[in-house]
Amino acid sequence: MSTSSFVRPMLLLGAMVWLAAPSIAQTPPAPTPPPPYQWPATLRNAQVLPADMGAQALRGTMIVFATGLGVRCSYCHVGGDDVPLAERDFASDANPKKAIARAMMRMTTAINEEALAAIPGLNQPRVTCYSCHRGAVTPLLRPEQPVVVPTPPPLPPPAH
Ligand code: HEC
Ligand code: HEC
Repeated sequence: MSTSSFVRPMLLLGAMVWLAAPSIAQTPPAPTPPPPYQWPATLRNAQVLPADMGAQALRGTMIVFATGLGVRCSYCHVGGDDVPLAERDFASDANPKKAIARAMMRMTTAINEEALAAIPGLNQPRVTCYSCHRGAVTPLLRPEQPVVVPTPPPLPPPAH
């Protein structure tokens, strides 16, 4: 590529930017993004989680819930996805899914601390929301793909 074949398009581009500049200056400034959400250090309406669990632990728990079910915050909390997090009322119980989620938390604890704890000889006696939900609201009842049943190996020759 010769120098001019590089420079000429650049000059043209410069002219285009310059020509466009007045209209850019007239467009209203972009709305300032909302400030980052400050997770509360204390829950105002804790019924299952420890109220003083701290902002980081609460954030981690809510992200585990959302990713475990493959949903956004608004699935369990009031306030649409278009409402900035800082303006939503997360302590509200108006969304009925929140009560279901609390029952699920109690059920998960009961499975871990009672049902699985009573079965000896397990390697990992623990379930999480993801164990059942696998990133979906409704856990699957059976494999999605037809199960491929492997052909059994040939029988060993008779031993006599
Ligand atoms: C699967 C349902 C579910 C999802 C999804 C979920 N939450 Fe929650 N959230 C809950 C439940 C249930 C509680 C109350 C726990 C309790 O009662 O101990 C809660 C509590 C909270 C609280 C504390 C409110 C208070 O009492 O002061 C905040 C803040 C919060 N969630 C934010 C979020 C954010 C932000 C998201 C998205 C990243 C989110 N949650 C996603 C179910 C959910
Ligand atoms: C032992 C399996 C299992 C575990 C563990 C589990 N869930 Fe569930 N969950 C289910 C089943 C089954 C349903 C009913 C689905 C339906 O009716 O469509 C359900 C439904 C839900 C629903 C309602 C979904 C809807 O809108 O119909 C929410 C919310 C939920 N679970 C949250 C959670 C959270 C949060 C956790 C972890 C604390 C959790 N679940 C752990 C099996 C489980």
